[in-house]
Amino acid sequence: MQIIIATNNQGKKREFQQLLSDNNVRISCLDEYHQIPDPPETKNTFDGNALQKAEFVFSHFNTQPNVIVIADDSGLCVEVLHGAPGVHSKRYSKEQTSVANNKKLLSALEGIADRVAYFHCSIAIVSHQGTHVVQGQCHGAIATNLSGTGGFGYDPLFIPDAFSDQTMATISSSQKNMISHRAHALHKALPIIQQILKS
Ligand code: IMP
Repeated sequence: MQIIIATNNQGKKREFQQLLSDNNVRISCLDEYHQIPDPPETKNTFDGNALQKAEFVFSHFNTQPNVIVIADDSGLCVEVLHGAPGVHSKRYSKEQTSVANNKKLLSALEGIADRVAYFHCSIAIVSHQGTHVVQGQCHGAIATNLSGTGGFGYDPLFIPDAFSDQTMATISSSQKNMISHRAHALHKALPIIQQILKS
């Protein structure tokens, strides 16, 4: 059985590999399949986008019996901003870079005390056994300035509740993998993946 992660994002690829490392299966991602174009991501929900990406990649492998495709869609939701940047997290700023996205978020929250936020992750699993979507969240707050160099995206601004004054970019990758939205979603996905591997 082979698991294909529908991403080119090296940060996400590493997190998935670490989280699935006990499962004795070959894990690859889209950088090994140059013939597959980037999956579309045009829906307005995390579940819809995860499913769209997984089904698109699976359609390139559906003649092979032993393939599981996993896709995720994730983002940061800030309560006082009515859930923004949300599904638009990657493209929040005009420049669409992490530096510019974080700068725009700090400006949007300038002078605002309520900085409650959460990361959300939806994971879709598509195989010949069917389709499943699971979700995970990591709750916390947005810092008033950037700190840390680890992780990616909004990590230098996100203080998880479990770490009270440290941003996600200052903790180790193994600490992040214990509390992250992707880890929570993947723990729900694991029994589904293991069931498919057994069948
Ligand atoms: P997508 O799931 O690839 O569409 O990613 C959406 C965007 O959400 C990323 O480009 C990041 O800006 C943000 N994001 C998702 N997960 C994380 C995370 O674990 N840390 C920081 N930012 C994240």
